[in-house]
Amino acid sequence: MFIVVEGLDGAGKTTAVKFIQALLEDLQIPHLITREPGGTPFAEAVRNVMLSDLNATSSDTIQLLLVSAARRDHIERVIRPALDAGKVVVCDRLHVSTLMYQPDAEYLDELIALGLNNTLPDLVLVLDVDFETSKQRLTNRGADINHFDTTRAEVFNRRRKIALSYAHEEGSNCVVIDASGSMDTVARKIDLVLQQRGVVPPFQE
Ligand code: TYD
Repeated sequence: MFIVVEGLDGAGKTTAVKFIQALLEDLQIPHLITREPGGTPFAEAVRNVMLSDLNATSSDTIQLLLVSAARRDHIERVIRPALDAGKVVVCDRLHVSTLMYQPDAEYLDELIALGLNNTLPDLVLVLDVDFETSKQRLTNRGADINHFDTTRAEVFNRRRKIALSYAHEEGSNCVVIDASGSMDTVARKIDLVLQQRGVVPPFQE
């Protein structure tokens, strides 16, 4: 079972991944928690480049080439073997982030496909928040903001629209979760989806 958590900055992705991790640990379900860009030494090196100032002005196409190479390595060396071993794999971001953050890249769909190498997630949790909520959360978080983090409503709303319209495409395996509430509320929603999908057993009193 391959689960991906997606969302824009401030949607609470990192907290959601930690919640799922705790749940799987609790239930002693064999799992692997990983992230993109990253997950292998090569892909983590690409991540460092992606998040550094070296990349601040590179085109969407160049960024797409980087993330696709990193993703292919991550899928081949880490994700695929874990899935083959029967583990639940939970990945913080994947190709929906590429659609959102590199929307103007050339050969976007082709390179995404090359990166994924036919390993598509069984479930993508798309955590959805509006611009104001995201901005508020990023302001409260303060420190670790990178050059992808949106400051303009226009950019944010374009990315949000991309994620939502992809989520509604047939076969995308996405579930959109309203992530504007408290972490407890969002966690309950995630738990319910995981029960419905048979990732965790149904809750019993
Ligand atoms: P990260 O620290 O994971 O962001 P967050 O804390 O919001 O989860 O940084 C990853 C950054 O990489 C994020 O800002 C978006 C960017 N990114 C892309 O531009 N393209 C991609 O395909 C992926 C996976 C991430």
